[in-house]
Amino acid sequence: MSQHQEKARIIRFEQLSEFNIRITLEAPLIAGSAEAGQFVMIRTGPGQDPLLRRPFSLHQTSSSGHIQIFFKNVGRGTNILAHAKVGEILDVFGPLGRGFSVADDRPACLIGGGLGIAPMLFLAKIVSSLSREHGQDLIILGGRTREDVEPLVEDFRQFGLALHCATDDGSYGLKGFVTDILRSEQLAANTRIYGCGPDNMLEVLHRFSTERKLDCQVSVESVMACGMGACLGCNLDASDGSYVHVCIDGPVFDTRELSWNS
Ligand SMILES: Cc1cc2nc3c(=O)[nH]c(=O)nc-3n(C[C@H](O)[C@H](O)[C@H](O)COP(=O)(O)OP(=O)(O)OC[C@H]3O[C@@H](n4cnc5c(N)ncnc54)[C@H](O)[C@@H]3O)c2cc1C
Ligand code: FES
Repeated sequence: MSQHQEKARIIRFEQLSEFNIRITLEAPLIAGSAEAGQFVMIRTGPGQDPLLRRPFSLHQTSSSGHIQIFFKNVGRGTNILAHAKVGEILDVFGPLGRGFSVADDRPACLIGGGLGIAPMLFLAKIVSSLSREHGQDLIILGGRTREDVEPLVEDFRQFGLALHCATDDGSYGLKGFVTDILRSEQLAANTRIYGCGPDNMLEVLHRFSTERKLDCQVSVESVMACGMGACLGCNLDASDGSYVHVCIDGPVFDTRELSWNS
């Protein structure tokens, strides 16, 4: 699979809520070769500060050569991006890693928690383009409050898939967790679950899918320096006692490939 380094112009900047931001970039080479679940490494500033690129899931791509990232301002790099302006050029490298393996012969259940919603929009587009003969597809989105979820809901609705939302404080959708909604759904026995979100959510998905004998793929995060398998900074324990590199073996894994705490 080919990777590209592109000087990508910011063509849209959306402040979706106080801390959540979406940026649209012109990056035709990356847009043309990306798969849902893959990520890009972005040099957030024009100089050497911060030195390392930062990883971001591909939130959306378009046939017109655009890519989107959706992120929260949490530190040095994301704070610089949070103050970027339309017209600025960012150095973007990707697409990187292993994305979701989408089954076209079984129903899909997409679950995004918090910033884990980011890769789900791209995945929803892929899933919605497949035949519906395999059964009902489902999207479950969650966050701490309304502002983590509501600004993205219309973008998901365009795909016409069943959509449920949950917030920790009950300010939008069900009061509770995305996994509460998952447990209340009648899922077909061959449903494949696709998840991205906080570690504890991914662990619940692993336990749930193991109990129900369902396929489950999750996109995991780790701190990354190179994004290309060279620095060993992103190791995670694998279920067979070895380890995996999140950047090249993932970020998407079948949950059975990983070692979980319980
Ligand atoms: C494959 C992958 C995809 C990602 N996709 C997205 C995305 O779509 N949207 C998004 O907002 N973020 C995403 N992240 C996380 C994002 O890369 C970090 O938030 C970002 O690197 C922080 O950079 P910073 O310079 O702003 O923060 P720093 O100043 O480097 O750190 C600020 C704080 O964030 C913590 N932190 C840094 N990196 C991570 C991380 N990877 N996971 C958890 N905590 C971290 C640090 O420990 C510190 O407390 C992704 C990470 C990976 C590995
Ligand atoms: S980030 Fe360097 S090996 Fe994965």
